[in-house]
Amino acid sequence: MDWDAFFTVHKDLPREGPGAPEDVAWACAPAEVPEDAAICDAGSGPGGDVAALLSVAPRGHVVAVDLHFGEAADARLANEPRARGVSADFTALEALPEAPFDLIWCAGALYFLGLEEGPSRLGRALKPAGVLAFSEPCRFVEAPSPEAGAIFGGYPLRDAEQIVAMVETQGFTVLGHRRVPDAGWEAYFQPLEARIAALRPGADAPLAAMLDQCAQEAAAWRAHRAEVGYLLVVARRT
Ligand SMILES: C[S@@+](CC[C@H](N)C(=O)[O-])C[C@H]1O[C@@H](n2cnc3c(N)ncnc32)[C@H](O)[C@@H]1O
Repeated sequence: MDWDAFFTVHKDLPREGPGAPEDVAWACAPAEVPEDAAICDAGSGPGGDVAALLSVAPRGHVVAVDLHFGEAADARLANEPRARGVSADFTALEALPEAPFDLIWCAGALYFLGLEEGPSRLGRALKPAGVLAFSEPCRFVEAPSPEAGAIFGGYPLRDAEQIVAMVETQGFTVLGHRRVPDAGWEAYFQPLEARIAALRPGADAPLAAMLDQCAQEAAAWRAHRAEVGYLLVVARRT
């Protein structure tokens, strides 16, 4: 991976994975998030979900946690007194001063821990009966094609039933689940494609290769979205 080229393409994009405000609203309805909730956006990337999270808890606050919480993300939260961003490892959320949380939101990031231990690991920072909402790579057909499987780089793809069962063995009751809608994927890919178009003229060889790779990522999802995608899961700690 050419990290310079990667960051040139991804720098300051509004999101770093699929998702939309409607997903937050959908997940928070069964979660019955308190008005003054303590909320963590774990693996927040640039904080694209923070505004939607704040809106479900009008007197609550959000801490956005990412290994690399960037300057642009900081600037975005600068005028928001109910939110802050921090560069930290989300495997230790319980060490944050805002913990324990009523809600941990984790869009397109729990797979870094793996489904075998991700929910229980993040769940340590939840209040009793707190809620974890996360999106997880999922297969929508029995046997996705190799091209579809490659979208998640060989990550083990399970169906919705298997995902629910694995979450429930880790001390949760699943309140609901649904596919992340196409609009959420487009909210990620369309700004990425605009960036690709802007950078294409004059790109050197490493950057051109990265632009091709990112364009291929979008094309692969559009071609195979009936086979694989993200499942959004809402689970209450029991
Ligand atoms: C695919 S991006 C999704 C970002 C964001 N949730 C979104 O939807 O735009 C995954 C993010 O998880 C972060 N991440 C991965 N492992 C992490 C860890 N152990 N602690 C904190 N953040 C982590 C990465 O830095 C990256 O920004």
